[in-house]
Amino acid sequence: MISQKSIEEVLETAQVEEVVSDYLTLKRRGVNMIGLCPFHSEKTPSFTVSPSKNIYKCFGCGRAGGSVQFLMEHDNLSFVEAIRLLAKKYNIQLEETFSSTKSKEEIEKLESLYIINEFAQKYYRDQLNTDFGKSVAMGYFTQRGFRQETIDAFGLGFAPDQKDGLVLLAKQKGYKLDKLKEAGLLNQYERDFFRNRVMFSLYSISGRVIGFAGRTLGADPKAPKYINTPETELYNKRKFLYGLHLSKENIRKSKECIIVEGYTDVITLYQNGIRNVVAASGTSLTDGQVRLIKRYSENVKMIFDGDPAGLKAALRAVDIVLEQGLNVEIVALPEGEDPDGYLKSVGTEAFRKYIEEEAEDFILFKTKHLLQEVGDNPIMKAQVIKDIVSSIAVVPELLKRTLYVQSCAQITQMDESVLLQELKTAIATRLKKKKHLPSSQIPSQTTRRNAPLQKSDKDVDYFQEKALLALLVKFPDKIYLPDEEITVFQYILESIHDVKHTIKEPLFNKILQHCYEILESDQIPSQEYFLNHPDPDIQRFSIDCSITPYRYSDNWSEKFQIYMHSQKAPEDNFVKETLRTVLRFKLKKIEHLIQQNQATIRQSEANPEALERIPRLLKLHKVLLEQRKIISDKLGQIVLS
Ligand code: CTP
Ligand code: MN
Repeated sequence: MISQKSIEEVLETAQVEEVVSDYLTLKRRGVNMIGLCPFHSEKTPSFTVSPSKNIYKCFGCGRAGGSVQFLMEHDNLSFVEAIRLLAKKYNIQLEETFSSTKSKEEIEKLESLYIINEFAQKYYRDQLNTDFGKSVAMGYFTQRGFRQETIDAFGLGFAPDQKDGLVLLAKQKGYKLDKLKEAGLLNQYERDFFRNRVMFSLYSISGRVIGFAGRTLGADPKAPKYINTPETELYNKRKFLYGLHLSKENIRKSKECIIVEGYTDVITLYQNGIRNVVAASGTSLTDGQVRLIKRYSENVKMIFDGDPAGLKAALRAVDIVLEQGLNVEIVALPEGEDPDGYLKSVGTEAFRKYIEEEAEDFILFKTKHLLQEVGDNPIMKAQVIKDIVSSIAVVPELLKRTLYVQSCAQITQMDESVLLQELKTAIATRLKKKKHLPSSQIPSQTTRRNAPLQKSDKDVDYFQEKALLALLVKFPDKIYLPDEEITVFQYILESIHDVKHTIKEPLFNKILQHCYEILESDQIPSQEYFLNHPDPDIQRFSIDCSITPYRYSDNWSEKFQIYMHSQKAPEDNFVKETLRTVLRFKLKKIEHLIQQNQATIRQSEANPEALERIPRLLKLHKVLLEQRKIISDKLGQIVLS
């Protein structure tokens, strides 16, 4: 792992125009530089780089980003690979949270632990070839249906029923006993830790042995079924997923990670061609494990045993997975079945079909099962709904949250607005808990393919809304009213509060909602915060707004009734820009309200039952006209000034 500090250093040092220039020729055009876009074919350059903002955008194909995104896209690199390449280019020493903060001795120590583990793995594997190993352990693997290539791929082996088989061989070969101890291979009496067990190797993501799990073969019901290497410098069970070193590429390719409970489940599925599978074995899923998965895919399918214990485990995992913004589906197997047994009994094709068809969205799954438990008791039901809403509140994306609320309302037969109110409270409580807002965050791997921003009808509303949002993400922390220390961010959000519901564009609504959430938690973000935003839509929008093509067509400003930022106005003129944009935006929205109100008046006039509403509507009409006049007067003043 590269430390966050190092990543920030790279992001700050790397100059996008220098990085891009390694691949194409850039020419200066005003404050920007332009060149032929490497991502689509074009004859006139529309690939624009802003050295001052350190971002690029192609006005032809819409691709945009910073140095890292450019390399990810152009050379098909992962985020970490791009950071490493940039660090090399700029001679930045990366601080690895795993190694380079550690001294040379510590690195050597880790290496010696790997070597000891490899030695032990070879010992356990060789034991499969002894007479006893052949009959007992190989017999067991064969009976479980594991083929030789599977045994090799998963590093399976056998620890014989001896108290010092491994210890003696290690001594003979000159390995130090305290190394064996550090690797967790000895017990407190300095004898073999694993005895009379079939052995499962535990691998790091890069495929090195970091520990073992041993399954008992004895009949003693008191002996634990599995024992694992205790926590060592190499093995941390909270950040470990069984099978990931084999399945990671398949997870990436299939865009889905299947999570099962047991080692043997992973092995059986893998052997039968379902290769995007891992197990969180031995712990309930941790956020460290979910973050590992997120490097490879955003979509998770969890397969659980359909019994009460399985359901409970599934429910426990809800918030952890949702919080990381992953899409999660649950598959409950028939009661008493685990994936290993079920696949063997129905066959691979039927198994695949089952997990496709039975997969249920996490929230729906949780809602249904909790509701079943409480039956008709209204107090319990209210508690369950609170519980579900608090799960929805951890979902980072507004759109998903909204969809979840809708489905939850349907299932629980509650009013959507009640749930939304509940959700608001839950989100506010959560936000209060986490105050810190880092200026740059590591975007997830899956944000790498950014599709061009979709624009809907490019009408006046769209561009006015965009102009307003642009100010929010470009100048959030600039002081708007020096006397009162009000920032542009606060000013805009507070002045449009009354008309914000009229915004049409879904993306804008998402950004606004996010901004209000930030405001509610008393924070003021920076432009960098938005330029490096982990939500790819928000990041793209911010980049879009922060970089402009070197020429707009002349009639744009007129046509869309917006003020062209950064074109005619110097950027430090944001105060005027903000006021004008807010006023124009509000003027437009008030005109909409006036029209709407007039339509309502006409309808009411035609409907005898609605006649009594007319005086109130006319009063509203008057108020709106007054407001319109105030705003247009103000606007006239600035236009003249
Ligand atoms: N487990 C454990 N300790 C136990 C029991 C289970 O660590 N005493 C973990 C193991 O990682 C195991 C997983 O929980 O793989 C699931 O347990 P279980 O379903 O009982 O084991 P299986 O993997 O199905 O093992 P087997 O099929 O060999 O019984
Ligand atoms: Mn099993």
